[in-house]
Amino acid sequence: ASAQVHRIAVIPGDGIGHEVVPAALEALEAVAALDGSFRFAFDRFPWGCDHYLETGRMMPPDGLEQLRGYDAILLGAVGHPSVPDHVSLWGLLLPIRRTFEQYVNLRPVKLLRGVTSPLRGRGPDDIDFVVVRENNEGEYSNAGGRLFAGTPHEIVVQESIFTRRGVERIMRFAFELARRHPKRRLTSATKSNGISYTMPFWDEVFREMAARYPDVATDQFHIDALAARFVTHPHHFGVVVGSNLFGDILTDLGAAIAGSIGIAPSANLNPERQYPSMFEPIHGSAPDIAGKGIANPVGQIWSGAMMLEHLGHPRAGRRLLAAIEHALAERGVKTPDLGGSATTREMTQAIVRSLDEVP
Ligand code: NAI
Ligand code: MG
Repeated sequence: ASAQVHRIAVIPGDGIGHEVVPAALEALEAVAALDGSFRFAFDRFPWGCDHYLETGRMMPPDGLEQLRGYDAILLGAVGHPSVPDHVSLWGLLLPIRRTFEQYVNLRPVKLLRGVTSPLRGRGPDDIDFVVVRENNEGEYSNAGGRLFAGTPHEIVVQESIFTRRGVERIMRFAFELARRHPKRRLTSATKSNGISYTMPFWDEVFREMAARYPDVATDQFHIDALAARFVTHPHHFGVVVGSNLFGDILTDLGAAIAGSIGIAPSANLNPERQYPSMFEPIHGSAPDIAGKGIANPVGQIWSGAMMLEHLGHPRAGRRLLAAIEHALAERGVKTPDLGGSATTREMTQAIVRSLDEVP
């Protein structure tokens, strides 16, 4: 029987994206070879800040059209000190997330075996939850303006945009996920004390939706208290749902309590599968360590495991994650961000070799 072929658009982007993306491709090829029922066709797109410096654009004008037909997109990171961050973000990452209606940003927060949490006394059983971040609207709106720039009368306005359709669909996704999660608990991140229109609306939709999911336990915390609770009670959480900004902030914190920002993966999902979904680590391009060969490839490889699940190969995805844990716990191979001395290459090789030793 001939293997199923998955066509993947690969965008390494900038900085350590060029180091961790090749690591993920190697690991994905290895899993596919072991599985035998599918293989990958990877097409590379050299878009990002270098492309911007050459052409004035982060991607070509028809870039989104070029991506549209792929089964999935694997992205490294974008951003370089030579280009303002809002230019690089709005020129590549955000257009992909929005045009392809990747309105769910799924971010597991899981302490892997072999990794030490900075939270004293916490082990893998204590830190294992998922954050569902709204990914298409909210505080990242690009609606606003700036008047009287540079004068004492300067006025700067940025609007948050919350639509009923947008809030309902992210809540529905989060409740469905919570229903299948062992804890059957959904926690909502809010700030309806200080933010007086959008956040009370967010809470209202949360309550409406909760009534339809009586089998899911719910609670909500203001974002400041919730941040503290991530540190003091990480074992409390099953699924957490938050707006674009709150989810963004919470997941860097989540990555930190799970050991390192270099580990944390994410999936930008278009659940209806009308468009390709995109898989990327939550970290950025890390200019401070780029080019040194010491970036942790785990976040990128784990994102690849999430892509496997999305493409219909959950067993292969679990196997890849098990190999990551095996490399960290049984082989003790770790990059410097985890207190080890392994290079990106050595970490990747340890994971690929571990694939043979896990179910
Ligand atoms: P960052 O995530 O790039 O780096 C924060 C810190 O974590 C740095 O000390 C870095 O060395 C470390 N780190 C990150 N990933 C690591 C890895 N895989 N292994 C070991 N250490 C790692 O965030 P920062 O510094 O705020 O942003 C740098 C650039 O990346 C900016 O241009 C920013 O706009 C961009 N960025 C892009 C994102 C994306 O493409 N999705 C997300 C976040 C930032
Ligand atoms: Mg972030």
